[in-house]
Amino acid sequence: MKLKINSQGLKGHLKVPGDKSISHRSIMFGSIAKGKTIIHDILRGEDVLSTIEAFRALGVEIEDDGQVITVHGQGISKLKEPEKALDMGNSGTSTRLLSGILAGLPFETTLFGDDSLSKRPMDRVATPLQMMGAEIVGQTDKVKLPMTIKGSAHLKAIDYVLPVASAQVKSAVIFAALQAEGLTKVVEKEKTRSHTEEMLVQFGGEIKVSDKTSLVPGGQKLMGQEVTVPGDISSAAFWLVAGLVVENSELILENVGINETRTGILEVIQAMGSQLEILEQDEVAKAATLKVKASQLKGTEISGDLIPRLIDELPIIALLATQGEGKTIIRDAAELKVKETDRIAVVADALNSMGANIEPTDDGMIIQGGTKLHAPENAINTLGDHRIGMMVAIAALLVENGEIELERAEAIQTSYPSFFDDLEKLSENL
Ligand code: S3P
Repeated sequence: MKLKINSQGLKGHLKVPGDKSISHRSIMFGSIAKGKTIIHDILRGEDVLSTIEAFRALGVEIEDDGQVITVHGQGISKLKEPEKALDMGNSGTSTRLLSGILAGLPFETTLFGDDSLSKRPMDRVATPLQMMGAEIVGQTDKVKLPMTIKGSAHLKAIDYVLPVASAQVKSAVIFAALQAEGLTKVVEKEKTRSHTEEMLVQFGGEIKVSDKTSLVPGGQKLMGQEVTVPGDISSAAFWLVAGLVVENSELILENVGINETRTGILEVIQAMGSQLEILEQDEVAKAATLKVKASQLKGTEISGDLIPRLIDELPIIALLATQGEGKTIIRDAAELKVKETDRIAVVADALNSMGANIEPTDDGMIIQGGTKLHAPENAINTLGDHRIGMMVAIAALLVENGEIELERAEAIQTSYPSFFDDLEKLSENL
């Protein structure tokens, strides 16, 4: 598709769509709990639809009346062997979290995905789940999709130190631990998003979390709940950055989820010296209304335990850094290489083709600020990565002349189906 360029400013209010991580988990917890789960404001992006379809194939009745989603949970032991292999689409979260659930179910399930998901490492979930007693076989010894999981009705609890900072792997082990005999201990390298732990408690389960260690007793039974999904800060991130870098912009973003394990981008924006106001904050719903306007920015350093708190925002933060004064350094972010694309290489290539000066490194990027962006000579391809697509669409707003063709733009449906409608809306308010 041809992207909109040369924005004269973005203005107005926006309620950002539902959080992807919480949407997946609301379906999963609802499906393994007993009783009805009613979900408000779920994200109807393709990734979440993959999760919904997978649980339907496992025998769970899930209704969508266009307003709320109702999951008729019958308890985890009532999930049944699917008739055919499950298509996980582009979704790493669906695949890895579901693996933890399947690990304890005494039947065989094969999972497959699209070209991007088929390249992503699954050994990180296979290893702990095999230690617990599940049989998992994938393509190659690194375990890639298609992968077949034969669960065990007698999973054993483990003590496991996660070798990578990954909420997906932590969550897979927690889901398996709920079905195991004994107490499972999971220790993280860095604190990652805490939605699984929090929602487990919301669904009546038990977990003891202290700093980076979680203790999960086995043999748990959960009960259906009513869940309201807050807006996704990872989707809001595109508008936060657009509001800061597109001249003459002023945006109010409503219902932005502010779980503290996800708010690294707000700290980066503040460290870059720009204008960000929290207008309202709902402590119970963990959501806030944020306001940004076009501001002067300066470079910063992003590393260490901040990385898991903004891992999905790094592509759009890279764009933000190209517009600051001075250098921004991102390090400790090698995980970017195993996202929907190698986001170190793909972000650097896309923005450099538009005139940015980004040096990719082994675990991040060095970004020179103050660069003026222009239309690239060739089309830019998302390579199936939604966040690359949205980052390029925001970068295009800064380009004054020419045309920008975005190939495989449909990847944006993964997490933000109404992205271009929202861009239109914010462009019209001038
Ligand atoms: C997610 C965890 C993160 C994140 C992904 C969603 C989750 O992945 O990048 O978009 O919902 O648990 P990793 O666990 O691979 O870091």
